[in-house]
Amino acid sequence: MAENQSMDTLQAPGTVFFIFGATGDLAHRKLYPAIYSLYREGKLSEDFAVIGVARRPRSPEEFRSDIRESITEFCRYKVNNEEEWNRFVQHFEYKSLDINNIDGYVELKAQTEALEQRFNIPGNRLFYLALAPELFGSVSLNLKKGGMLDSEGWHRLVIEKPFGYDLPSAEELNAQLNQVFKEEEIYRIDHYLGKEMVQNIEVIRFANAFFEPLWNNKHIANVQITLSETVGVEERGGYYDHAGALRDMGQNHMLQMLTMIAMEPPSRLLPEDIRDEKVKVLRSLRPYQSSDEVRDNVVRGQYTAGESGGKKLPGYREEDKVDPNSNTETYFAAKLWVDNFRWAGVPFYIRTGKRLPVKTTEVVVEFKNMPTNVYLGQRHSLQPNLLVIRVNPMEGIYIKINAKNPGTESEIKPLAMEFCQSCQVGINSPEAYERLIHDAAHGDSTYFTRWDEVATAWSFIDRIAKAWAESPGDLRTYPAGSWGPQEAQDLLAKDGYKWWPVNGQEEDNVIWIKG
Ligand code: BG6
Repeated sequence: MAENQSMDTLQAPGTVFFIFGATGDLAHRKLYPAIYSLYREGKLSEDFAVIGVARRPRSPEEFRSDIRESITEFCRYKVNNEEEWNRFVQHFEYKSLDINNIDGYVELKAQTEALEQRFNIPGNRLFYLALAPELFGSVSLNLKKGGMLDSEGWHRLVIEKPFGYDLPSAEELNAQLNQVFKEEEIYRIDHYLGKEMVQNIEVIRFANAFFEPLWNNKHIANVQITLSETVGVEERGGYYDHAGALRDMGQNHMLQMLTMIAMEPPSRLLPEDIRDEKVKVLRSLRPYQSSDEVRDNVVRGQYTAGESGGKKLPGYREEDKVDPNSNTETYFAAKLWVDNFRWAGVPFYIRTGKRLPVKTTEVVVEFKNMPTNVYLGQRHSLQPNLLVIRVNPMEGIYIKINAKNPGTESEIKPLAMEFCQSCQVGINSPEAYERLIHDAAHGDSTYFTRWDEVATAWSFIDRIAKAWAESPGDLRTYPAGSWGPQEAQDLLAKDGYKWWPVNGQEEDNVIWIKG
């Protein structure tokens, strides 16, 4: 996309979208609703088609009724015009396919060409693999062997995380994909990068004279990123017990948010310039050199039985498909250093966990205290200024400053001024998957992770995983419904800081102005 074009109004080029894993949860909850929203917003016009691909047989009618269900349940737009619905759903077809059988791909090719002709689509094909990662390599190879990449237009592969289990397995997967697709044709999803407020970080930073001049180690004391969830592992015990919080959230969402906070301003707002800056941040992360360093800087925990909202909750080891002796972490908190000129000396604290008290993702930037001065310092203990970016599920920002308590002579109080974006925009804020599918159809890879980002993130994470594997005894526990192990509080306390309350939890003594 040209630098000055707006994605908000741009129509996607004529494309066939292939959803591999068409009967799965992701397609049902996220992908079909996203496609319908794009259609309703005029970002998809009539020159598109969707082919749902999965093993189980499904008649076209059954498939279309699955899609209707998914949209009724999960889409921010509701169907309110049957004529429009029929126009939309006629673009959907289904193909039952054994993904290891080449003949199936040859049939898929014929089906695709017929649809391309019918909807006047110039051979652009986007393959979305909502599948188990072990299948990515063989599906890609079979797409090629089956002639699916022989059309005139472009071909793009969109894949879900996790991209590998560690650096060696990610390298192997990447090599497999590269036999078929070039790096610029591969769109690795990290859905956090599609979130409104994660994308807003760039704007808040680079469009405000308030912030960018202060965005460095002279003025910022520390940065805190919290990604807390109330859910446990639900029906994903099998996957999660193998992955754990570090791989499931740390290697991707948390490090990606950190790069958005810490990167240098890119020279141009083009995908490669932005991704170049992000990967520099990952390369600047100070690697932990020993197991002791890992122990001092990273806390890992697993939830035990507990309670939340009056409901009794089982411990992790009692969850379905989880090893009863599992040492997998459901929580981790870490102190990271970005060793570059801008950030030298500023700790970045990150934490994530399942079965915590609230569902929220927030970034807190804590500014350094004012130098004590005669006027205020002796009589008042001032609180630091904060900039808080609320990513999920509430979207917004607030700043916390010090001001005179109205009506008093000289009492100073913290004043939090909040812009609650989700209160204003509500249901109209696009879902991450809408943006990402739209971007991929346009060939805009800004908010997808490039191979060097993935590899650099793994090499940082692998050191932690290795240290943990060597000392399983470091695993702490926390009751479900609590804020995680005490050691995570100590991590900040040692440095004279604390985790700031998240989710708008109001501290005493703060005056809130909400908008
Ligand atoms: C996924 C993880 O990538 O992100 C899940 O695999 C996690 O374990 C989810 O629950 C959180 O995403 P969101 O958008 O609900 O915060």
